[in-house]
Amino acid sequence: MTEVLVTGAAGKTGRAVTKALVCRGARVRCAVRPGSSTPIHEDAAARRVPVDLATGEGLGVALAGVDAVYVIAPNVNAREVEMVRHIADAAVAAGIPRVVYHSVMHPDDTAMPHHLRKHEAEKLLREKPFGLTILRPAAYHQNLRPAALAGEIAVPYSLDVPFTNVDLDDIAQVAATAVLTRELDHAAYDLAGPQELSVRELAAIAADVLGRPVRATQISREEWLAGAGAALAPQPRADLLAMFTAYDREGFAGDSTILPRLLGGAPSTWENVLSVA
Ligand SMILES: NC(=O)c1ccc[n+]([C@@H]2O[C@H](COP(=O)([O-])OP(=O)(O)OC[C@H]3O[C@@H](n4cnc5c(N)ncnc54)[C@H](OP(=O)(O)O)[C@@H]3O)[C@@H](O)[C@H]2O)c1
Repeated sequence: MTEVLVTGAAGKTGRAVTKALVCRGARVRCAVRPGSSTPIHEDAAARRVPVDLATGEGLGVALAGVDAVYVIAPNVNAREVEMVRHIADAAVAAGIPRVVYHSVMHPDDTAMPHHLRKHEAEKLLREKPFGLTILRPAAYHQNLRPAALAGEIAVPYSLDVPFTNVDLDDIAQVAATAVLTRELDHAAYDLAGPQELSVRELAAIAADVLGRPVRATQISREEWLAGAGAALAPQPRADLLAMFTAYDREGFAGDSTILPRLLGGAPSTWENVLSVA
């Protein structure tokens, strides 16, 4: 049985990837921050292993005997390049043959510092001797789903620019294919969803699907800073403000033709994602 180390395993991405891997018959070591009580995807084939990505502590034990590593860094983290370097060095030391990195669509977009960190991480991973696959997802539909269900999608950027948001469960299926088969070896894949929709259109579709009003509201940067932004440390706050400026300019859209090929079928639409219980 294939055994895989998934880092960042207690985040929404890590839980979805763990679920897809165990559903396809793998055993998963879920790397979690030492002392963290954030739940992982619960399954008999998944177990927690403590790893501090900031220092690399725990990686040697976590990697011993695994067949592959799925590398997820915490979102908008200033230390992502350092964290990925720790994982890459430990994977080389442990002789791990296969690494899959969870990057982002348009990693070389200079308007977004957190994208450029993924670009740097991709570059350092390419220099290592293991087999490497890079997945570059668009923004997940799951980011806006809770707001849609609650009746208002409020964002601090334009309501009318295009996004090709994607279902996280589709990304997790591709992640499992990249880890468990040779089909996606030695390449990088942009993973955009099948529809190009603005936030105004996402809200209108949500209202149709849910059968109740769903508003799209553009809030000011000041309102965001006083609300969701207030809880953030200065660096992620600055990263996200830069992202909003980039979104204002051109949204966040990419090539929708790749994901269906990798999935071997039609990706989930926003309507599908809203309809899941
Ligand atoms: N959201 C999107 O639309 C999107 C799109 C494309 C790519 N991505 C990328 O997907 C990745 C994962 O995002 P996410 O929101 O699922 O992850 P997340 O929740 O931000 O982070 C995942 C986990 O990392 C853990 N963590 C934090 N510091 C750590 C440390 N020093 N050592 C070990 N673990 C540590 C956290 O543990 P605790 O729970 O204990 O704090 C958390 O559970 C990010 O790199 C993001 O850029 C996201």
